[in-house]
Amino acid sequence: MNLSQTLDICYLEELIHRLSIPSRKNSFYYDQLIQSLDISRESVKSYCTWKQGSYTRNLVHSTDLYELLILCWQKGQASPIHDHQGQDCWIYVVEGRMEETLYHPTTDNGKNFILSKSDRIIYDRGDKSYLTNSNAEWHSIQPLSERAITLHLYALPIKKCRVYNLKTAQLSERHLSYS
Ligand SMILES: [Fe+2]
Repeated sequence: MNLSQTLDICYLEELIHRLSIPSRKNSFYYDQLIQSLDISRESVKSYCTWKQGSYTRNLVHSTDLYELLILCWQKGQASPIHDHQGQDCWIYVVEGRMEETLYHPTTDNGKNFILSKSDRIIYDRGDKSYLTNSNAEWHSIQPLSERAITLHLYALPIKKCRVYNLKTAQLSERHLSYS
């Protein structure tokens, strides 16, 4: 049986069901599921929360193999520049317009860790993004619309990440929590 054979996935329950089929991490399969997504705002609204000052991270489902979140953004609420601790990350834009800035690590005369901008990508409703640390990529994301909703799949789950301050070129560790 080809686990990836699927029609469009329109509901979170269907996505969770399909994500739970493999008994070990299967990035190729997860990628095919994300490419099949056609999830509406209506089907995620029970997971949406909003607050002033920061975007929100709302847990939909997690296992030992993956973590599924709904993130809600308002204009001006950018993520820090961060990595994914070697895990894979997929993003699906449920609503709004997002901007992703990619960074590539270099060193200052072989000594200090420095991130340099490598790309900037705009995503609209229905678009998908994939980031893996095997490419040594870092990123930050922010909404370009007044509000935006994004679905994030992490495999394996990420409990902490490294954050980079562009002004000071300093690295720090951030523990991730849910809203
Ligand atoms: Fe990220």
